Amino acid sequence: MDKLRILFAASEIVPFAKSGGLADVAGALPKALKALGHDIRLVMPRYYVVDREKFGLKLMEGGLGVPMGAMGEIWAGVYEGLLPGTEIPVYFIDHEGYFGRGGLYEEGGYSYLDNDNRFIFFSRAVMQLAKKLRFHPDVIHANDWHTAAIPMMLNTHYAYDGDFAYSGSLLTIHNLQHQGRYYKGAMDVLDIGWEHFNANEIEEYDGINLLKGGIVHADAISTVSRRYAQEIRSAEFGWGLEALINNNSFKLHGILNGVDYEEWNPALDPFIAETFDRGDMSGKQICKRALQHTFGLPHRDDVPLIGLVGRLVEQKGIELIVHAIHALMHMEIQIVLLGAGELWAEHFFSDIAGRYPHKFGCYIGYRNDLAHQIEAGSDLFLMPSLFEPCGLNQIYSLRYGTLPIVRATGGLDDTIENYQNNAKDGTGFKFYDATPDALINTVGWAVYTWYNEREGFEQMQRNAMERRFDWHHAAKEYEALYYRIKAGRRGA
Ligand code: ADP
Ligand code: GLC
Repeated sequence: MDKLRILFAASEIVPFAKSGGLADVAGALPKALKALGHDIRLVMPRYYVVDREKFGLKLMEGGLGVPMGAMGEIWAGVYEGLLPGTEIPVYFIDHEGYFGRGGLYEEGGYSYLDNDNRFIFFSRAVMQLAKKLRFHPDVIHANDWHTAAIPMMLNTHYAYDGDFAYSGSLLTIHNLQHQGRYYKGAMDVLDIGWEHFNANEIEEYDGINLLKGGIVHADAISTVSRRYAQEIRSAEFGWGLEALINNNSFKLHGILNGVDYEEWNPALDPFIAETFDRGDMSGKQICKRALQHTFGLPHRDDVPLIGLVGRLVEQKGIELIVHAIHALMHMEIQIVLLGAGELWAEHFFSDIAGRYPHKFGCYIGYRNDLAHQIEAGSDLFLMPSLFEPCGLNQIYSLRYGTLPIVRATGGLDDTIENYQNNAKDGTGFKFYDATPDALINTVGWAVYTWYNEREGFEQMQRNAMERRFDWHHAAKEYEALYYRIKAGRRGA
């Protein structure tokens, strides 16, 4: 098989800028594709947080003209660098007005008002960059609403452009909740022609929906777990797009994310108090004490410690925790939480830490080292998401022998095997109903197991630590999909 030329566009990429799992995926999947021999190149915006010196980024000569319809042509700079530790080129679209800001998408809880223009600009710049580089991609891989305009642009502006004569597109949906819905005036900036402003393409309730347009125009669409690919076809998870997704199910795929085991490995982790692994778990006990120390909790080996890490938003089931918290605090447990997000939730959990200082520790903010320490030092990890396209934290937890307690949805359902009474063959604890009672019961069940069936619990830890969700496997599935896209285009 010919090696592929893949242009991978994402709004965030580890280690340059990250707000969630999309960045983890964008920083890891390309490495696995490169290892398969493909020519993959990455593009992202040059936000203010992107450290040009640290990553040795160089300004490319010439820059790019980016047509923005009614706004005319806007000039972009391009920085060039490499994904650290690899030979994978990464290009950063530079525009001080659009990206020289404190946040990626928002500041202080308020989305930037010009996010439509910012990401239409970025998407168009990706296309212009491909031309400038004469890259001739076989596949342009777009991710989420931020780059969903790319498949539309490919089929309109660039439909007869020789530089894209053999280019197809894949749109990966990491989260269907965010769709890029804007005032229809953005059509004049997108500039693909008002004939595409109709209910079968980009129009929705007299506004535009970028993700919808991307779903219609992409050669293939994928989500980050099989289960989520099924779920988004239903009203419960479809966020209004379920009918459209059903109509396009012929090109819908579910490919489970992997995780980067070079970063998340208790045997090598530089952030944790003591390394450990399946054969010798003594280090985990030391990590637990260090974690209790960090959060000012009593140093006790005789209570189970439950960790929580994540964005404090509705998706993550924080309201279930809010309603369950007092019941949980009546159990003989400790909880540590690391998260940032909605203001009310930040205040709520800080208050709980004040009210139960011996049982509940809370750190509001974003800290990668602490995320590692929580994975390592906890006995259990709580992730009660209302929906979860894939979820990475529960997979990290498995590797650290920290048994996940999860709601059985999306990737959580696909990656965690439920505990069976006496069977000792699960890797975590699942509940189905999105209710505080279901959460409380299942935490109770996990805690009971920790106290009273220690041998079974330890067997589950060993099971969990053996499981692997590696990127090589996922990359093979993407590769197969890319070849299909390419064959489809050539045959068209
Ligand atoms: P999502 O992308 O929906 O936020 P994922 O589970 O896929 O959920 O990925 C979340 C990623 O962000 C993980 O790598 C997790 O460790 C990290 N993360 C989330 N919140 C924080 C935080 N407050 N501090 C450090 N890391 C965080
Ligand atoms: C999204 C989803 C999360 C997924 C991540 C990476 O942010 O919320 O479930 O793991 O993307 O694909």
